[in-house]
Amino acid sequence: MTDITSQTEAALAAIAAAASLDALEAERLETLGKKGWVSLALKTLGSMTPEERTAAAPAIQSARASIAEALDAKKAALEAAALEEQLARETVDLTLPAVAAPKGSVHPVSQVMDELAEIFADLGFAVATGPEIEDDWHNFTALNMDETHPARAMHDTFYFPDKTTEGKDVLLRTHTSPVQVRTMLVAAQTSPGGAPVRIIAPGRVYRSDSDATHTPMFHQIEGLVIDRDIHLGHLKWTLETFLKAFFERDDIVLRLRPSYFPFTEPSVEVDVGYANENGRRVVGGSGDAQGHAWMELLGSGMVNARVLEMGGFDPGQWQGFAFGVGVDRLAMLKYGMNDLRAFFDGDPRWLAHYGFSPFDQPTLSAGVGARA
Ligand code: PHE
Repeated sequence: MTDITSQTEAALAAIAAAASLDALEAERLETLGKKGWVSLALKTLGSMTPEERTAAAPAIQSARASIAEALDAKKAALEAAALEEQLARETVDLTLPAVAAPKGSVHPVSQVMDELAEIFADLGFAVATGPEIEDDWHNFTALNMDETHPARAMHDTFYFPDKTTEGKDVLLRTHTSPVQVRTMLVAAQTSPGGAPVRIIAPGRVYRSDSDATHTPMFHQIEGLVIDRDIHLGHLKWTLETFLKAFFERDDIVLRLRPSYFPFTEPSVEVDVGYANENGRRVVGGSGDAQGHAWMELLGSGMVNARVLEMGGFDPGQWQGFAFGVGVDRLAMLKYGMNDLRAFFDGDPRWLAHYGFSPFDQPTLSAGVGARA
């Protein structure tokens, strides 16, 4: 009896003195472990007479209970101390400057396309897309350029060696105008009468051409409006409104010249007035001593009746206008680059200089002031 009492006291003292979880575990094995003395003592109860057991059991049970309790308490205390120690050791100095991570930027072409999408969204235009690998029906035929049409020669087209299963030529689209065709065909089927249609179609186009102002791949944005009683006045107002918003100035002056595109009739070439400021062409800027110079900016016109028809619209009921602008050109004019080829060289120094930070502005197109 005294034996168990003194053994228990010794065990409790050892538990209290354990300096680590390992030392505590060793103490547990010595007492409550399979071969620990408490466990062995409990086993002896089985072979006792009932009288002996009644006499011996309480002391052993209470030894087990007090040791188990002491082990649990000490374990919790040691773990808490270990955590405290770890927290103290692993402090982070939040005032230290962070290591700078290399930062990418938004390419001016992406930036300008976002700006255009936002400007035209305000005017009620949706964004439409089409495939870059086209067939010649959508790229030429449905735009009123039949097989022998001389206008096909205006485009230096990249053709694929194989034709479609229906025998159509396959090519890299030479302009975004096939998206007009695809949009009309879908619209004519989905809504009664098909209209109104109000879309822009930004994207890559391809021509076999390469110098300081031409690259084999470049970007265009197409515009198409179809509704009742649409006329050239709507086209002019839309272009003026878009260019004022894009260049962020009110003194944009346009000149409309008669031109020719097979898919528009009449066709209009649009020039914009500009001034030379510090050797740079600045759009708008009227009233300087030399007066305006004119720069050709885009092609446009009223959608040709035959194109409306091939797109599933009755030209007796519906009219439309369309335009196509070079996106890279717009970016160069707004942000002052002079070599188009650098747009697609992927030189990170060029991108660091001309790119835009997506983080400095609430929307991608917050304007020039938000330039990275
Ligand atoms: N698709 C023409 C081009 O690439 C531009 C254009 C589009 C002209 C729409 C008129 C109407 O040159």
